[in-house]
Amino acid sequence: MIKIIFVCLGNICRSPMAEAIMKELVFESEIKEEFFIDSKATSTEELGNPIYPLAKKKLEEKGILYFSHDAQVFRKEDYDFYDYIIVMEDSNIRNLLYIVGNDDSKKIRKLIPNYDIDDPWYTRNFEKAYNDIYNGCQKLLKELMKQKKTKREGE
Ligand code: 4NP
Repeated sequence: MIKIIFVCLGNICRSPMAEAIMKELVFESEIKEEFFIDSKATSTEELGNPIYPLAKKKLEEKGILYFSHDAQVFRKEDYDFYDYIIVMEDSNIRNLLYIVGNDDSKKIRKLIPNYDIDDPWYTRNFEKAYNDIYNGCQKLLKELMKQKKTKREGE
């Protein structure tokens, strides 16, 4: 089981979009039983709130299945549970480090290396956020599958 969590500031726009997109990609790839995928926030700002309506609308427009969601905050103990902690931008890493202390196991990384996925809550550009997140998730899944294959071949 590969456990992945997507993390952003509010957990109502980017990380739930990433969660829904990754679940869809995994579903399409016929290896769904090997993944646990979730999303959380670094701030308590939107705690308990549903996905932002424009993020939900964008997912629906793209044919991505929407799932029931209420914003949760990343907790220190989540660090041990997940294998991959995937954030959207540099500030998410800084905020996560306040929560977890340090990233000894090197689990925290940006969805797209060396690139910040702008917050559509501020930019209002949900199309760009969707495209960035979709591309990032596609690459991540490809990398994970390659890793799994290499591991299997080495056993
Ligand atoms: P997200 O966007 O981090 O992509 O979920 C945000 C949504 C709400 C707030 C900040 C970011 N907020 O401060 O309420």
